[in-house]
Amino acid sequence: MKELSLHILDVAKNSVKAGASLTEISISTDTDGLMTVSITDNGCGMTDEVLKRVTDPFYTTRTTRKVGLGLPLWRLAAEQTGGSFHIESSTEEGRSGTCVTAVFDTKSIDCMPMGDIVSTVVTLISGSPDKDFVFSDNDERNKRSVYLDTRQMREILGDGVSLDALEIQMWMSEYLCEQYENKTEN
Ligand SMILES: Nc1ncnc2c1ncn2[C@@H]1O[C@H](COP(=O)(O)OP(=O)(O)OP(=O)(O)O)[C@@H](O)[C@H]1O
Ligand SMILES: [Mg+2]
Repeated sequence: MKELSLHILDVAKNSVKAGASLTEISISTDTDGLMTVSITDNGCGMTDEVLKRVTDPFYTTRTTRKVGLGLPLWRLAAEQTGGSFHIESSTEEGRSGTCVTAVFDTKSIDCMPMGDIVSTVVTLISGSPDKDFVFSDNDERNKRSVYLDTRQMREILGDGVSLDALEIQMWMSEYLCEQYENKTEN
């Protein structure tokens, strides 16, 4: 994968697979160009064994199970910019969930371009219309702030409308694109 947005889609799909009813994708870039991407969910969480498997590349050689590459590649994408990677996860009943945080130095020549994050978010939401997602992208450099919360959308749209309806997809896409074009006044 050559674009960060495709990795984000991949990592957020893990959250959906883990049964999360709410997944939050938060991107935040400071004035130095350090970009923190965190994907937080309330899914089933990872056991210590799985956690070890996804964070320790050598651990995988000891098991015969199929090993996914989603998280290791995401980690690599961050670390090759001089950034960092961190996972927190809990399987504790009632408060289980996972938070994957990756920090990128966007000034690095090895930082992949973001790609089409708007399409990624719309694809993710319309692919799991019964799940909730919160997306935010705050960029201090460009004084730009983008936000979408499917829970708010449901409140406005009512129960009869599914988030995978074509007109809703188009609306989300326009809504996000508009925010990306606007700079916040301050
Ligand atoms: N948000 C999450 N909640 C619970 N478990 C997770 C989460 N993300 C990853 N995992 C666990 O970690 C494993 C590895 O994830 P990873 O994305 O690296 O590979 P994968 O999803 O198995 O395969 P791939 O992404 O290559 O299709 C998953 O199979 C799953 O067991
Ligand atoms: Mg995966």
